[in-house]
Amino acid sequence: MEQQILVIGALGQIGSDLVPALRRLYGASRVIASDVKPARDDEGPYVMQDCTDGASLAELVRRSRVKVIYHLAAMLSATAEKDPQQAWRLNVDGLYTVLEVARIHQCQIFVPSSIAAFGPETPRDPTPQITIQRPTTIYGISKVIGELLCAYYATRYNVDARGLRFPGLISATAPPGGGTTDYAVEIFHAALETGAYTCYLRPDTRLPLMYMADGIRAILELMAADRSRLRYASAYNIQGFSATPAELAAAIARRIPHAQITYDIQPDRQAIADSWPRALDDSAAREDWGWRPQYDLEATVDEMLNAIRCQHT
Ligand code: SER
Repeated sequence: MEQQILVIGALGQIGSDLVPALRRLYGASRVIASDVKPARDDEGPYVMQDCTDGASLAELVRRSRVKVIYHLAAMLSATAEKDPQQAWRLNVDGLYTVLEVARIHQCQIFVPSSIAAFGPETPRDPTPQITIQRPTTIYGISKVIGELLCAYYATRYNVDARGLRFPGLISATAPPGGGTTDYAVEIFHAALETGAYTCYLRPDTRLPLMYMADGIRAILELMAADRSRLRYASAYNIQGFSATPAELAAAIARRIPHAQITYDIQPDRQAIADSWPRALDDSAAREDWGWRPQYDLEATVDEMLNAIRCQHT
């Protein structure tokens, strides 16, 4: 049997785009999608699997000869603040369980980090690759733990663990669900459906954002890169573009003139956004594995509006 690739959290925001991309690259039968919910389609192998259940996960990895794991299951920042205990169980205990399986079965593993891994004391514009982190959310804390655990498993056990600090990801495929950067996806659907969007962040809140096609390409390029060249394998900064809600709304209004934005600030999510970087310095990723973003604000807006229009026709 050929070696298999396992995607944990396949039905989530990143998994919904990553699974089809991996299947195009490696063939549908080699990519096992898994999540805690029933499958959405039958385009390839699918297993219902809870990543905190180490025994059954290890059995799946052994039986299916899995050699590469993409571990995407996590609670996002705003949802995690509502239930920090459950966030810890999924984001930290879940990651530890999956890393142990990767260690025992010698799998390469990808674990996403985030702009949320930084905090209010971090230099924000741009945020260096190596800097003070000290995040203030349980989600951010879980991401720093993830970065450090991946680096530890790499040096202590030679696990080939790799990761990226993602900006807020923008995709038409799956909704993010409970993040602080959800507005950057919701605004597109609202523009096309009702023409009106109420944003929960201040109009001048500048955050790093990235079109999902760039994010997926970054994952695939990092995982294929020569390991000996990766100085920060467990967590590379990558920058797409930085924008405020007002700039995003203006770019949409240039294409859909009746689209309107209003603001109803949610203090909790505003406080989270205010503690995050405005831009990431991704020069290490550029030097070590040739990272270059392809989608700026304008290209992202064009792609998103086209993709959502296609879904409606
Ligand atoms: N997009 C995520 C969030 O907003 C950040 O990683 O929680």
